[in-house]
Amino acid sequence: MTSTSFPHALPDDLRHVPLTAQDLPAVLDLDTWAFPGTVPVEELAGWPFPLTWDRAWGVRGADDGPLLAMHGSYPFSEFPVPGATLPVSGLTWVGVHPQARRRGILSSMIDRHLTDCLDRGEAVSALFAAEAAIYGRFGYGSAADDVRVTLPRQAALLEVPGSADHTVRIELADQERHGALVAELHRAAGAAAGGGLGRPGWPTRETPQLEASFWADPPAWRDGAESLRILVVERDGRPRGYTLFRRKPSWEAAGPRGTVRVREVAALDAPAAHALWSRLLDLDHMATVETGMLAPDDAVLSMLVDSRAAQRRLTDNVWVRLVDVPAALRGRRYAGDVDVTLAVRDGRLSQNTATWRLRADAFGDHVQVERTHEPAALAMDVRELGAAYLGGRTLTALAAAGLVEVREPAALGAASAAFSWPVAPVSSWVF
Ligand SMILES: CC(C)(COP(=O)(O)OP(=O)(O)OC[C@H]1O[C@@H](n2cnc3c(N)ncnc32)[C@H](O)[C@@H]1OP(=O)(O)O)[C@@H](O)C(=O)NCCC(=O)NCCS
Repeated sequence: MTSTSFPHALPDDLRHVPLTAQDLPAVLDLDTWAFPGTVPVEELAGWPFPLTWDRAWGVRGADDGPLLAMHGSYPFSEFPVPGATLPVSGLTWVGVHPQARRRGILSSMIDRHLTDCLDRGEAVSALFAAEAAIYGRFGYGSAADDVRVTLPRQAALLEVPGSADHTVRIELADQERHGALVAELHRAAGAAAGGGLGRPGWPTRETPQLEASFWADPPAWRDGAESLRILVVERDGRPRGYTLFRRKPSWEAAGPRGTVRVREVAALDAPAAHALWSRLLDLDHMATVETGMLAPDDAVLSMLVDSRAAQRRLTDNVWVRLVDVPAALRGRRYAGDVDVTLAVRDGRLSQNTATWRLRADAFGDHVQVERTHEPAALAMDVRELGAAYLGGRTLTALAAAGLVEVREPAALGAASAAFSWPVAPVSSWVF
């Protein structure tokens, strides 16, 4: 990453302005310029809006002209990182009007965001990238992948004892009826992954605005499919897993060839996951099941009798930026004993540029991070530390790509093992 003066200033004719609920029409208008769509602004204005206004910023001309750019962030107070949760800022709704692009507005908005993170004590910023080439220059590393899987109907699953003890109910999805159940199971499934180690990168929809927006189901989002449905698996009358899905019918000469579109799946254990997938893979009139964003280690992939029956597409999922390097390193747990010196370069937040000594025991709570003048064993940009932070990218892979400089070869293996995590990071929803 090239170094830069911080914070990056806006062009003289522009200024940052806080946004309020009164700005909603302008925000939606700008959003449809940045992300072209077919739904008119007047209709969008009737849908729940996910942002928290006191974390939303716009950019206008100095003469109070039209809104030219904006960004906001979600307040994740308990974002799962390896072995712990941390306050994390979820950068979102980043958009610049096409007429104003490439004038340094995003650069300035990112620096405002990083400053806000520091002021709020959020040591980490995370995001989903519309285009993968945008955020690396700002110190964000691609920290997780998700896999979208297409499965044929009745794809056979290996047996899992206890699966048959579940009952299944399938209903119209409704926030009032299912909101609490989904929120609770989603959080619990993330925490239970890996025998209780927890799945990093799996945030809960923490604010009422995010919840309402998640459950909104306007016809314009259905792409020819039915309204949202929910399948809940229960054991002894208690919910153990759910999936939110739609069916899209297709009547062909050879018969019905519909598609099940799965939005989200969460299960507390293997028998619940097996019961859930068995039912989902056998809906009448459907020929295929297309999943949403699954973790690359999702249970269903290991349950398939014929693993080649699954067509998989791997995409980048959550991106991570360490805003306060020592606090972020202290805030997670490590999967191996480690005592390593890391030279970190940060072209925007100079306080992160230093050599840090990290000491931790495998899966232990006692993590020490201190600035040191000792020689560094490994050197990297803050972007690579972000990429490795959730445990989904190894330092060895980053070193193989020349992105981690290995000054003491003996240190790489232990550091890489310590930074990795037995449960793959993923977010099941785009924030
Ligand atoms: C992506 C977007 C926010 C960039 O805003 P911008 O104000 O034009 O960005 P800046 O002028 O600050 O650009 C800073 C640097 O990033 C680069 N950059 C910007 N957008 C980029 C992109 N999409 N791909 C690759 N590089 C990009 C610029 O070339 C510039 O590089 P330089 O410093 O080497 O000259 C804007 O084009 C946009 O709103 N696009 C559509 C919506 C979108 O994709 N938003 C992101 C949602 S996650």
